[in-house]
Amino acid sequence: MYTLITKKRRGEELTHEEIDFIVRGYTFGEISDAQMAAFLMAVCFNGMTEEELVQFTDSMIITGKVYTLHDELDGVCVDKHSTGGVGDKMTLIDGPIVAACGVYVPKMSGRGLGHTGGTIDKLHAIPGFVTDISHEEFIRTVRSAGLAVMSQTDDLVPADRKIYALRDNTATVESIPLIASSIMSKKLATGADGIVLDVKYGNGAFMKDIGDAEKLGDTCVSLAGRYRRGCTAVLSDMNKPLGRMVGNALEVAEAADFLMGKTASPDVEELSHRLSTAMLMSAGFTEEEAVSREREALASGRAFECLERMVSLQHGDVRCLTDHTLMGTPRYTERFRAGHSGRITAFAAEKTGLSAMYLGAGRRCITDEIDTSAGIEILHTVGDEVREGDDIAILYSSSISDMTKALSLLDEAVTIDRE
Ligand code: URA
Repeated sequence: MYTLITKKRRGEELTHEEIDFIVRGYTFGEISDAQMAAFLMAVCFNGMTEEELVQFTDSMIITGKVYTLHDELDGVCVDKHSTGGVGDKMTLIDGPIVAACGVYVPKMSGRGLGHTGGTIDKLHAIPGFVTDISHEEFIRTVRSAGLAVMSQTDDLVPADRKIYALRDNTATVESIPLIASSIMSKKLATGADGIVLDVKYGNGAFMKDIGDAEKLGDTCVSLAGRYRRGCTAVLSDMNKPLGRMVGNALEVAEAADFLMGKTASPDVEELSHRLSTAMLMSAGFTEEEAVSREREALASGRAFECLERMVSLQHGDVRCLTDHTLMGTPRYTERFRAGHSGRITAFAAEKTGLSAMYLGAGRRCITDEIDTSAGIEILHTVGDEVREGDDIAILYSSSISDMTKALSLLDEAVTIDRE
């Protein structure tokens, strides 16, 4: 390992055998955290060649179980992945839309960490909803509802779990080849026919810069190409939170309302359209077919029915989708008001996500318990004019982790221009 770290540090290309030695060795405990961290840091500085990246991804995949969802489901299936955002409830919207168009959406999801939320945590806001289901139950649910969301199993790319934890501790997360191999190893190991990536850019995303997000998208797409798997990267803005709600129960409510045609904030509507079109096109539809099917799935209420069926089959209380109070009402409410009159010119996503985390909606560390009722309802966003004292957002919490900190973070997130 010492020789290989030196080689990588000098910017020389590693062979397939050398990369496999590193990934296996670290995953199965033969290489220390210190040596692996040094290797990862060398990758952060020197990158990886295309061949190294393919081998690194391949070696990660084969440390665990490789699923063949297409064969098991006997139908076209599409997977979607977001690189992580604030207020990102798109899986709960696009999954049901695409399922209602006759394409399976089997999703294995992770939990949220830090200022970004995870789909699993959002679904746990629905009383009874189970995400630790068996593989057989997962497949049965997808067949019947068109979609299912389960927690990532321990046997799905164990190398990534171990390497990601180390990256998180050693400032080696922000490396395009490391992010691409981490995301794509999990997506490729599940065996979906098409993969759609929602690559976020902006202050609330891993990729602050749109050019880097583009590079990450291109890297993932060409990696999928090496596996003969269709993959589309959609770039989307994460400079401000997506939609009106941030927080687990709040986001389930916003997604359900969207599918029922009740609310539609313009950014959610636009991204939902872009993602579901990309998902349907990766399942073989033309753009025209995709757009008309997606519209019909929403207008007929069939997309909402798919969500209802999934919730019911995964043991959740479906009444929550229409009566959101059944997900629990938060004990404490606080209003965030405009300090002066003007126009809102920024609503920074990262600070908003951190504010929600201090309310209890997210985890500071992996063992933190989530308060599913906690979060932020955004009443005014970028472009809106407000007067001094107007409510800009409502903060909710049942645990009052730290309301003062949450309010001050929101104050930092929002800029009101007097001009
Ligand atoms: N999401 C992942 O799964 N892996 C990364 O490295 C970054 C985001």
